[in-house]
Amino acid sequence: MAEQKSSWVLMVTAQTPTNIAVIKYWGKRDETLILPINDSISVTLDPSHLCTTTTVAVSPQFTHDRMWLNAKEISLSGGRYQNCLREIRSRASDVEDEKKGIKIAKEDWDNLHFHIASYNNFPTAAGLASSAAGFACLVYSLAKLMNVKEDSGQLSAIARQGSGSACRSLYGGFVKWIMGKDDKGADSIAVQLVDENHWDELVILIAVVSSRQKETSSTSGMRETVETSPLVLHRAKEVVPKRVIEMEEAIKSRDFPAFARLTCSDSNQFHAVCLDTSPPIFYMNDTSHRIISCVEKWNRSEGTPQVAYTFDAGPNAVLIARNRKTAALLLQRLLFYFPPQSDADLSSYIVGDKSILKDAG
Ligand code: ADP
Ligand code: DP6
Ligand code: CO
Repeated sequence: MAEQKSSWVLMVTAQTPTNIAVIKYWGKRDETLILPINDSISVTLDPSHLCTTTTVAVSPQFTHDRMWLNAKEISLSGGRYQNCLREIRSRASDVEDEKKGIKIAKEDWDNLHFHIASYNNFPTAAGLASSAAGFACLVYSLAKLMNVKEDSGQLSAIARQGSGSACRSLYGGFVKWIMGKDDKGADSIAVQLVDENHWDELVILIAVVSSRQKETSSTSGMRETVETSPLVLHRAKEVVPKRVIEMEEAIKSRDFPAFARLTCSDSNQFHAVCLDTSPPIFYMNDTSHRIISCVEKWNRSEGTPQVAYTFDAGPNAVLIARNRKTAALLLQRLLFYFPPQSDADLSSYIVGDKSILKDAG
């Protein structure tokens, strides 16, 4: 390494929001490269609500790569972390910090190590896509630190190798993860469908039913589904391709009734496929089911959908209201039927996107 003191530390901090799928990814065709069996579509949440903050530091004094998640050291030996680190390292460029007198040549990166500290401001491994925000932030912050010049599509293909859903968190707005055809995954990347301003009357509200860590991780859950569910291939081959086309259309034309119908159906089919797994996987609980009934009843009584619901691999509800007025009514209803800290176990509400709480005054 060029004539510099060995005491320097170079750091980058980044923040990445989580994303919630409205057409779900569930099932891989390649476990190592993380290649999915169907396309998926998600909405990225406002970073001021649910996000990961990651600081990556490099110093000649660090003897090996280390990572702390929510202040606890975790092992980086897993293939996913190693794959992301290797892919990013191989694309590193020269870095120069004149103020600190630091010069790192492209080839020096192979001999340097990282210390990484990451913090999720929302429950980890509870079905709110912490792996999505987490790996997207890891890849993004390392890419910044190492002056990687790839575009977001290429970075999304690296984040995908950390956690599939992570590839969609590198963009705001509505995002599609194209499953791709290539065996090596070169074309399995995320693209932005529309940006965050396109449909800005939508309000996303998250009802945290339980912040406990789920019993079956998404990774093992979807593996068991692919191995045992007779329904999952029908979903991936027959149902999702049509839904993806209809969902893109609904998003582009801001057609809320179509959007809500597709979002709710896809969430329900994803949980049906979990139930079709042997042994069955139950991600939702009684409170989740009661929230679904409550929204379905409301939508029916209005004659046209006011709210869409979707549940990832966990019991927590993601509710998408068509506008701020509906969101205010929704929050009122939730607080009435599921008062926080009651037996219903609905512990808190996180209002995402255009925050109705912040703007209420
Ligand atoms: P979730 O529904 O929260 O995405 P998953 O089972 O898909 O749950 O993934 C949880 C795993 O993702 C964690 O056990 C951890 O390995 C990884 N993860 C979560 N947050 C981060 C983070 N900030 N940085 C790196 N990895 C993370
Ligand atoms: C239900 O991306 O967490 O949230 O690729 O194994 O890390 P791995 O799984 P992950 O699965 C997400 C599943 C989902 C649906 C979705 O986000 O599309
Ligand atoms: Co996940």
